[in-house]
Amino acid sequence: MIVLSFPSSRLLARKIAKRIGAKFSEIEVKYFPDMEAYVRIKENLEGKDVIIVQTLAQDPNEKIIQLLFSSLTAKNLKARKVIALIPYLAYMRQDKMFKKYECVSAKALAKLIEASGIDAIFVLNPHLHRIKNLDEIFSIPSFNVSCEKEIADYLKKNFSKDEWILVGPDIESKPILKRISEISGFDFIVLRKKRFGPRKVKVFGERKMKKKNAIIIDDIASTGVTLIKTIKLLKKLGFKKFYCIVIHLLSEDLLKEIKKYSQIVSTNSVQNKTSKIDVSKSFADAIKLYLTQKSIREIDELF
Ligand code: R5P
Repeated sequence: MIVLSFPSSRLLARKIAKRIGAKFSEIEVKYFPDMEAYVRIKENLEGKDVIIVQTLAQDPNEKIIQLLFSSLTAKNLKARKVIALIPYLAYMRQDKMFKKYECVSAKALAKLIEASGIDAIFVLNPHLHRIKNLDEIFSIPSFNVSCEKEIADYLKKNFSKDEWILVGPDIESKPILKRISEISGFDFIVLRKKRFGPRKVKVFGERKMKKKNAIIIDDIASTGVTLIKTIKLLKKLGFKKFYCIVIHLLSEDLLKEIKKYSQIVSTNSVQNKTSKIDVSKSFADAIKLYLTQKSIREIDELF
């Protein structure tokens, strides 16, 4: 088995390779003057199970091409299985036709991934809203790897549940908050959000809250507007201290503004200077389980 990755997912991929005891190799990627991509896998993959780690954030379209080219190449090089480990699966927010004749990008991307010969995918906390499960858009095995345990551990280590409450900015964050609360014992509340445009949101709140410090948890921070509006509302409601935890922090540009109000950390789904919560164990455990189950199936078939 071999773990391959592109430079932006290198740190996480190396950790996963170490945890599952597999060789690690980085895929070479270069650009021609016209910006066409050149991709080269520097390994003999014949007969091997290959794991490609590629997070689809910070220039997602480019990263998608890299992923598709590398999986097609791995198949061409006679890899036995190609497993894509995609910490951040882009395009999941466009999960329906909001306007007539629009591309439903979540489904379109799933089709492209399948067409590139990928045999199974593992995704960290995919943004599931109207699509309830990855199986609804993928016909290959697809696994939802969760980092609620890692976030709960981070909370228990760094905060007191008597002083801090967890806050979800919108109804979509509720399942994550609920799970983290169950594991960590921290109380949580969920606010309501209305979006008017990519950088325009309104967050609505409750009034009776006893605790004075808020840890805002969201799956994605893209522009950072949701976090900032949530903090501003909580300030008005009398909260004193703030802290933000994000699973997929898509751009470091938002940090300057957020840091005026709050500290912020994220997982290493997307490698940033905020990546303080390591999710490699969850991925490694999920992969190990998948491979074990696969061999159990194979044994079953033999008898
Ligand atoms: C939306 O449903 C997500 O959970 C996030 O709240 C959203 O994507 C954050 O985006 P932004 O940082 O641009 O407000």
